Amino acid sequence: MERKAEDFARQQREISISEFFEKNRHLLGYDNKVKALLMIVKEGVDNALDATEEAGILPDIYIRVKEVKNERYEIIIKDNGPGIVKKQIPRIFGKLLYGSKFHRLKQNRGQQGIGISAATLYTQLTTGEPLEIVSSTGDGKTHKYRIKINVRRNEPLIIDSGIEEGVDWRGVQLRFLTEGLYREYKQSILEYLKQTAISNPHARIVFDSPNGRTEFRRGVESLPKEPKEIRPHLHGVELGILTRMLRETKARTLLSFLTGEFTKVGRKTAKEICSKAEMEENKKPKSVKDEDARKLLEVIKDVKLLKPPTDCLSPLGNEVVKEGLRKELNPEWVESITRPPEVYRGWPFQVECGLAYGGSIQEPKFMRFANRVPLLYQQGDCAITKSVTGIDWRRYKINGKRIPEEPLAIFVHLVSVWVPFTSESKEAIASYPVIIKEIKLAIQECARKLGLYLSGKRKHEYHQHRIRTFERYAEETIKALSELSEEDRERVKREFLELINSNNNKITEEENGGAKEAEKPGEERDGPDREERKSKDRASRQVTLERLLR
Ligand SMILES: Nc1ncnc2c1ncn2[C@@H]1O[C@H](COP(=O)(O)OP(=O)(O)OP(=O)(O)O)[C@@H](O)[C@H]1O
Ligand SMILES: [Mg+2]
Repeated sequence: MERKAEDFARQQREISISEFFEKNRHLLGYDNKVKALLMIVKEGVDNALDATEEAGILPDIYIRVKEVKNERYEIIIKDNGPGIVKKQIPRIFGKLLYGSKFHRLKQNRGQQGIGISAATLYTQLTTGEPLEIVSSTGDGKTHKYRIKINVRRNEPLIIDSGIEEGVDWRGVQLRFLTEGLYREYKQSILEYLKQTAISNPHARIVFDSPNGRTEFRRGVESLPKEPKEIRPHLHGVELGILTRMLRETKARTLLSFLTGEFTKVGRKTAKEICSKAEMEENKKPKSVKDEDARKLLEVIKDVKLLKPPTDCLSPLGNEVVKEGLRKELNPEWVESITRPPEVYRGWPFQVECGLAYGGSIQEPKFMRFANRVPLLYQQGDCAITKSVTGIDWRRYKINGKRIPEEPLAIFVHLVSVWVPFTSESKEAIASYPVIIKEIKLAIQECARKLGLYLSGKRKHEYHQHRIRTFERYAEETIKALSELSEEDRERVKREFLELINSNNNKITEEENGGAKEAEKPGEERDGPDREERKSKDRASRQVTLERLLR
């Protein structure tokens, strides 16, 4: 039977964002029980780090994961941040797409307003239990809520709430009762916290797991430089966004709209744009038609604009990267590179790379970070992985074709006011060509330094091996030489060992850049006499031995 549009119309209705993600929880990272526990901890810890840093507080975070019955876990995450005001608690934890970070351009771990309410959603989906929140802003009052999500309406459902007075504490504590599985694999909560400790050495984190306590001590006693919030850059603005901004702005003229809403647009540039687009400077932004907005964008493409300011970015910096790698991995060699800021779609970003070699590192280790958050899943889809595998490591004396096969830890960190994640679970960075290029340049610069170190190290090992081989056969060779030449054995021995030593010293000098060292000002130098004597000695030893060996 043929069906009419009216039949379909009866089935067509609005879908709430909660319903959507209830069906598609894998998009938020909840695709297996082990990962689900990690996601909940990660969302809680990322928020705790964001909140403490923004409030100017050194983070002190406590996490407990405890199995209460088969595959059912209690998760507690507690921070010493600014707390959350009473009115906001239900919506923050019981409504998807609600937060403080989405509508601004500032380097934060969170950006979508989904993270923590998604954890509430997963919990109620698997165990039917609400999320318990305790929050205090430090005013002596502690608010306690138990919250679920009304999935059909994407609204908080308050199960109960209470208030306690006279408590001397400030921060947020969350308690989830969820389904899950605790394992200490490569992509575990423990690994996430370990990598978080590397990229956040200013945080103290205590983790009570089903297998015992781990404490990640604070390695740096000061907070990272606070990144500044910025306005969008005209070169990254697309038509839809420009027309909405024109509609919503409080600016009264096109000129003040351009100078006030965007970064790095001065009066002169704004005037140039208006004149090239043949539009009145005093035109009301709300009256700009779509056709004119398109014309504006055409003109803007060819207008020279300064790059966005860079104080909106807060990379770790070379010393912190190296300190983090040393603290957690104890390598024999470590180096780090921070690239200058770049721009994708008008949004500034910056890449830093650290390489750590040998020491306690036994096998290759590859760590990806975005705004100080470790990325543990979807490695193959990530711009960082594509950059690492796109490098010919053998050019830098590093074994392995696409991925190094050495005891080498690769650390790559991207910071941005908006990280282009490939999905809502924020596990992989999208492959914008300019991002790939910057990551590659950072790794190559670091790999060049590692290549130099490794070739020196290998040369040294090779010569040490040769010397050991000589020494092993020295006695017999000396005996044979003295018999053949009928020279005194002790003399042959002395000459022979001196020759080995002098070669050894020469090699060590070369390896240490000995020639350059001798040129250093203020240090004792070999005078011409001494140099002459040395070369004569060397020549005479050579002649004696050659005679013996003939
Ligand atoms: N521990 C906390 N202390 C203070 N404020 C918090 C805390 N946790 C969450 N918030 C507030 O709740 C908001 C929502 O958090 P949520 O994790 O859902 O989203 P987000 O962090 O903004 O973005 P994302 O979805 O990328 O994590 C945050 O933007 C922040 O304002
Ligand atoms: Mg968050």
